[in-house]
Amino acid sequence: MTTLGWDKASVAEAAKELETKDAAAVLRWAAENFHPKLGFASSFGAEDVVVIDLLVKVNPKITIFTLDTGRLHEETYEVMDRIREKYGVSIKSYFPDKAAVEKLEREKGFYSFRESIANRKECCGIRKVEPLTRALAELDAWITGLRREQAVTRGGLPKVEVDTAHQNMVKVNPIADWTTQQVWDTIKKNQIPYNKLHDQNFPSIGCAPCTRAVKPGEDIRAGRWWWELPEQKECGLHVKPKH
Ligand code: ADX
Ligand code: SF4
Repeated sequence: MTTLGWDKASVAEAAKELETKDAAAVLRWAAENFHPKLGFASSFGAEDVVVIDLLVKVNPKITIFTLDTGRLHEETYEVMDRIREKYGVSIKSYFPDKAAVEKLEREKGFYSFRESIANRKECCGIRKVEPLTRALAELDAWITGLRREQAVTRGGLPKVEVDTAHQNMVKVNPIADWTTQQVWDTIKKNQIPYNKLHDQNFPSIGCAPCTRAVKPGEDIRAGRWWWELPEQKECGLHVKPKH
């Protein structure tokens, strides 16, 4: 149970009601119940800039954090700065442990993640999962830009859930039920800064060496870890809760 008295049953009850509410209402609920121990994990892809636009309207002081893996695209750093300027927010970046990165690079080189799934998970573990664990240790609830449509692994995603992979904290996915069309209509309508790689056929953007453009008709996550099978394409940030 959190300090605020949210046990699994009361989160489940709130989640049921929130499933019928829109993204702004879900964010308002999260802010009312968890701020300042609430943070938005943002990679500044199309979904995440939409969530930021909604979030600052709810409360501009809510923490926005990012996992700066050290291997991001230049365009990702650029959109982070455009977001800082437009909304006047600060972005709390978390960098990987330097000794762990040095050891990995010295022992296995600079592209070990291409050699096996175990190596890829090792790199994601060092550059994403460990920094995420540190970020979440300061929070009671976290927000993501996940959507059901994105992947086979995300089909059953609720708007609010207990994150059993992270100390039973509350995980909030306000745009879980949005379509790609809705995301882009909102970006255009509100003139939200977005990652320029989206204009070059990058629908989903992660680290530079693990992301490529997709061909017409390909799945939206086909450019992520394109050498792996769809059901393996999760980096450990979003582990499915075990009930
Ligand atoms: S990933 O697990 O395959 O990398 P994806 O890129 O689809 O995830 O992003 C899903 C959600 O995970 C984003 O909306 C965001 O909430 C969170 N996320 C992904 N990458 C990062 C990152 N580098 N920093 C912070 N949050 C991230
Ligand atoms: Fe490493 Fe690629 Fe994972 Fe980034 S996405 S942490 S470079 S394996």
